[in-house]
Amino acid sequence: MRAIDENTITDAVLDQISTTPDARFKQIMTSLVRHLHDFAREVDLTPEEWLKGIGFLTAVGQKCTEFRQEFILLSDTLGLSSLVNALHDKRALEDSTKSSLLGPFYRQNAPAMPLGSCIVKHPKGEVVALYGRITNVAGDPIPDALVQVWQPDEEGWYDLQKNDPETTDLRGCFRTDSNGWYYLRTVAPLGYMIPMDGPVGDMIRAQRRHGYRPAHIHFLVGAPGYRECVTALYLSGDEHLDSDTVFGANASLVTSVQKPDPASPIPDLPGIRFDLKLAAATAADRTGRVGADPSQIIQKAAH
Ligand code: BEZ
Ligand code: FE
Repeated sequence: MRAIDENTITDAVLDQISTTPDARFKQIMTSLVRHLHDFAREVDLTPEEWLKGIGFLTAVGQKCTEFRQEFILLSDTLGLSSLVNALHDKRALEDSTKSSLLGPFYRQNAPAMPLGSCIVKHPKGEVVALYGRITNVAGDPIPDALVQVWQPDEEGWYDLQKNDPETTDLRGCFRTDSNGWYYLRTVAPLGYMIPMDGPVGDMIRAQRRHGYRPAHIHFLVGAPGYRECVTALYLSGDEHLDSDTVFGANASLVTSVQKPDPASPIPDLPGIRFDLKLAAATAADRTGRVGADPSQIIQKAAH
């Protein structure tokens, strides 16, 4: 019989999972077990610390609802979501717009709106035009691309965080025109603190991190034959561009509010221009989403 000790335990587990028929599942679990065991040996993990970790993960799960995804928040704050985005970008055939976090506030049921609509039900700040062109990497326009946009209000709150999270606000779905343009009305977002009232917030405070995200607007853009692009624009001048708590800000995604903006399709408003380049899809491409609508994750977990 094999003697199990702090070193032989790893091979004992790997032997047992070596029978896994699904090759990719086997590869992922084999590597996970190796790294997890190496981690425990490296930090000389105590029973008390192990239990604290289990308690933390339990609290993360208990915080999840159909309107809140604390596990995605954990992945985001540990840089895992951005790493998965970067690996996804590296697999692209062409040099297209970089991915940025889907985040925990994406909703699947954002309303379809005609070009030029305002996505904010009750704007408190100055209304601005948000516009840009969706093209392929050669610069040819992509007509009829689906552009989903979502953002927090002027105080940094998403609709999902408000008293009635069932009411959609500050989000919409648009179709590009025949020249690949999208344009809509909104308010310029402010940077905000990630949700800090859960176990991930406790972790952030214990690490003395500030918890802020720089001002941004999210995009999810798709068109037949192209890789889905999940990204965000970031507004220049934000003090947290270089220290985003969730590592989503990227220099190539920074833009600014122009006032006046004569080149805008709505020239009487200040304008934010954000163009996106989509890469051709490969046979292996499925989704670019590192995340999902929280209600969908809860439903899938229940089945
Ligand atoms: C967001 O930008 O919506 C977001 C991303 C990660 C964590 C919290 C918020
Ligand atoms: Fe956001």
